[in-house]
Amino acid sequence: MAFSERIDRLKSSLIREILAAAQRPEVMSFAGGLPAEPMLPKVDWAQMPTSMGQYGMSEGEPMLRELIAAQARELGIQCEGSQVLIVSGSQQTLDLASKLFIDPGTEVLVEAPTYLAALQAFQLFGAHCLEVPQEADGPELGVLRQRLEQHKPAFAYLIPTFQNPSAVRYSEAKREAVAALLDEFGVTLIEDEPYRELVFDQGSATPIVSRLRSASWIYTGTVSKTLLPGLRVGYLIASPDLFPYLLRLKQSADLHTNRIGQWQALQWLGSQRYNEHLAELRDFYRLRRDAMQAALVEYFSDLATWETPQGGLFFWLALRQPLDTRTLLKPALEQDVVFMPGEPFFSEPDRHPGYLRLNFSHVAPERLGEGLRRLAGVIRDALAVEAA
Ligand SMILES: Cc1ncc(COP(=O)(O)O)c(C=O)c1O
Repeated sequence: MAFSERIDRLKSSLIREILAAAQRPEVMSFAGGLPAEPMLPKVDWAQMPTSMGQYGMSEGEPMLRELIAAQARELGIQCEGSQVLIVSGSQQTLDLASKLFIDPGTEVLVEAPTYLAALQAFQLFGAHCLEVPQEADGPELGVLRQRLEQHKPAFAYLIPTFQNPSAVRYSEAKREAVAALLDEFGVTLIEDEPYRELVFDQGSATPIVSRLRSASWIYTGTVSKTLLPGLRVGYLIASPDLFPYLLRLKQSADLHTNRIGQWQALQWLGSQRYNEHLAELRDFYRLRRDAMQAALVEYFSDLATWETPQGGLFFWLALRQPLDTRTLLKPALEQDVVFMPGEPFFSEPDRHPGYLRLNFSHVAPERLGEGLRRLAGVIRDALAVEAA
């Protein structure tokens, strides 16, 4: 079959394959990034006007765009509703941005590690990903400067607030420094923030796009982690020079985001009950985060190091003795445990062995200890085989 040349670069998603294998109810899954099922709010559709079944505008529902712009301004992002495009999940932002910027061989700058499905989207269009190592408070600035001096990336893709997978929240100083560097070198910023609202501890996190003076930017968010991922409602806000292109790409992709999901999102965003729901969500996840921290201390202290996440959905573990964690998947599944190997979160997976991403929102606290005990056992067995 004669497919397009980019199909050779189309990678299957390891996450989806693992999740498919982990459907059995007895499996304890630390793999996905799903909201906890009991925390999905009950939604009411009875009041939805019939007209929502009609075709809509490619930009999205006007009231929703205005609301998102107003909330972004509260975060310090200078923008109008006319710069907001409602997308089919923030994943679509990554697809549209890839189409806008990437030809085979185009350089783009990413954190190492970074969101697996962003790598997939960028690499499908032929991007060459320049990695900047992630430290506990954000990217290594010396390496960032070096990459910018030596290359001309089409954009920098950053997840500065509770990053997936590393849970890192950039410090204020690094946010400032990154903005200054992108301005200095005139590099577009794509700032992806699905986890901003899932914050368990205090600490400010003003978006980096709000600090830019001259560089172009796209800021993207979603209701997936705080409301319902099944709605498939996200948004992007773009600097005026980029917006018209993104709108046309959206038109050619799917005409517009589903109006039914947009209507439901509008019933929640900014409302009193949404704020109450967010408060409940934070309390619920904080307890699960604490339960996982305690279980990790018990079973993983001698095996790995990690930082306690202050938000988001993940722990990111670095094994004290690195090994290819992809090889652990099969034995873990045999023990009814599944996790996300760290290698696929790097553009060159084989060069970064020894990390695991563990989701803490899904497994109930009473089963969590047993799941981590089994996973630690699998790692100990693999290390023993390597040592033999
Ligand atoms: C960093 C990051 N960006 C984007 C997405 C996609 O989210 P959405 O459901 O809005 O498409 C996710 C989902 O896990 C994510 O972790």
